[in-house]
Amino acid sequence: MKTIFSGIQPSGTVTLGNYIGAMKQFVELQNDYNCYFCIVDQHAITVYQDPQQLRKAIRNLAALYVAIGLDPKKVTLFIQSEVPAHAQLGWMMQCVSYIGELERMTQFKDKSTGKEAVSAGLLTYPPLMAADILLYKTDVVPVGEDQKQHLELTRDLAERFNKKYREVFTVPEVKIAEVGARIMSLADPTKKMSKSDANQKAFLSLLDDPKVMEKKIKSAVTDSEGIVKYDKENKPGVSNLLSIYSILGEVTIKDLEEKYEGVGYGQFKQDLADVVVDFFTPIQERYNELVNSDELDRILDEGAEKANKMAMKTLKKVENAMGLGRKRR
Ligand code: TYM
Repeated sequence: MKTIFSGIQPSGTVTLGNYIGAMKQFVELQNDYNCYFCIVDQHAITVYQDPQQLRKAIRNLAALYVAIGLDPKKVTLFIQSEVPAHAQLGWMMQCVSYIGELERMTQFKDKSTGKEAVSAGLLTYPPLMAADILLYKTDVVPVGEDQKQHLELTRDLAERFNKKYREVFTVPEVKIAEVGARIMSLADPTKKMSKSDANQKAFLSLLDDPKVMEKKIKSAVTDSEGIVKYDKENKPGVSNLLSIYSILGEVTIKDLEEKYEGVGYGQFKQDLADVVVDFFTPIQERYNELVNSDELDRILDEGAEKANKMAMKTLKKVENAMGLGRKRR
């Protein structure tokens, strides 16, 4: 069985973008791959996080991973900071990274431009992400489109290491969903939907109250044409809503265009709101059962134990290849 690794930051809430771009794929892939899914809390602290909020967000994300349908018997679910090898290998990967290539990462540029004090962690975030992936001999990494550049860097670092030292790392492939790899903001459909958006109406949280979900969808920015048609260039708002509807409602975009021919945006948005609410209500119910349960702690304990075993094996190989520490007899 091939191996999958992917991670989500527990910073703030989990958005519809995270779900459609990444988590939905995780559920679909869990039967065919050996899967590691991680709550990457060490990535979250590259920008300040309120400690109490962070703890809460970690638990919420863990509960959501299970609530969306990941089966802890099949997948390894764990928290990054509970597997120390991530930070350890992260350091080694920093030592094979060049400052220039890290400064060229668009996410670094976006998050650092115009800021007075930028943490070093924001710059060295991609080598840590590479470490996450490389520790598990990962073959495939399912992510949204915004992570593609980081994945390319991961591949470069793995290849560079293998050439410089010894063939230790598997060079992973990226897997990006065909539809929904980039869900756009509901307030400005030319921008990616992001949990860090200052405008609460820009993103839909998986844990939003159904009434809030409905309101946000109804107030989503579209255009004045009144025609439900997929045209990313000229109708980014309607196209974004069509993608969401198509994925969660399991209907093709073509069928939706036909269904809403001659019908205004009002009905289209109302129906989409119903689809979204129906989709996430059972997930929210399962989430509520899990979030404060001992079951969740058991899942995370087991996950950390399994991940630690695998991660330590790779870490030892890397240390040996680099000549770190002593040779054990
Ligand atoms: P993060 O936490 O920003 O997002 C988690 C996943 O959700 C996807 N995503 C989206 N997909 C479609 N449309 C959107 N609007 C949207 N917003 C987010 C992201 O592409 C991602 O797949 N660096 C990563 C976390 C990470 C990681 C890893 C991922 C750390 N180590 C190792 C994979 C493998 C991040 O910040 O994702």
